[in-house]
Amino acid sequence: MEFIIDTVDLEEIKDAVEHMPIVGVTSNPSIVKRTSPAKFFDHMREIRNIIGKERSLHVQVISKDCETIVKEAHRILEEIDNQVYIKVPVSYEGVKAIKILKSEGINVTATAVYDLMQAYMALAAGADYIAPYVNRIGNLGSDPMELINELSNRIAMDGYDCKIIAASFKGVQQVRDSFNYGAQAITAPVEVLKAIFKNPNIEKAVDDFNSDWYAMYGEGTGIC
Ligand code: E4P
Repeated sequence: MEFIIDTVDLEEIKDAVEHMPIVGVTSNPSIVKRTSPAKFFDHMREIRNIIGKERSLHVQVISKDCETIVKEAHRILEEIDNQVYIKVPVSYEGVKAIKILKSEGINVTATAVYDLMQAYMALAAGADYIAPYVNRIGNLGSDPMELINELSNRIAMDGYDCKIIAASFKGVQQVRDSFNYGAQAITAPVEVLKAIFKNPNIEKAVDDFNSDWYAMYGEGTGIC
């Protein structure tokens, strides 16, 4: 089970990797726009410094045609490092690019997945991660969990070395369902992951435990 964060905000990333079991960072151009770093690659290298090589960094290409997607992928790897996962939208040109990048041994995250057949194409092309867009699929009136479940079954049945990284989240329930229906990874905004702990019962339980301790041993006492 992998928790990944969908942000390029440096303070948010530092805080999240320190407090939660975060194993990677993803973004897309719209997410980058929210932070609008002056120098894109300096910023991405800064993220790598914060998260280290033990966590995955997924960086998205911009172009729509295969040739330029492949060039952009090479530039991203040169500027950051060769462990980066290149995020490629699963368009007709994108699948062609995924095949080329995989033949070169490059890590690929197939993104902008709305449909099972699109996911199967990315799977057969060799993507390492496939990102179904949970909230956006739901907004279109389809069931993202059916897609995740069927894709997960197919990966297991055919023995593919590929993980589902469910994406596009607006709430905790979508994240929980994604894991339960078979996603190995999720990438979510930090505020969605923090919302897991926004349950007043948790705070009340901790307060009750504290007051029982102090009632026994007195205020100001502790275990250490
Ligand atoms: C992953 O990085 C996706 O690009 C992202 O989760 C999409 O999220 P959105 O649907 O909120 O734009």
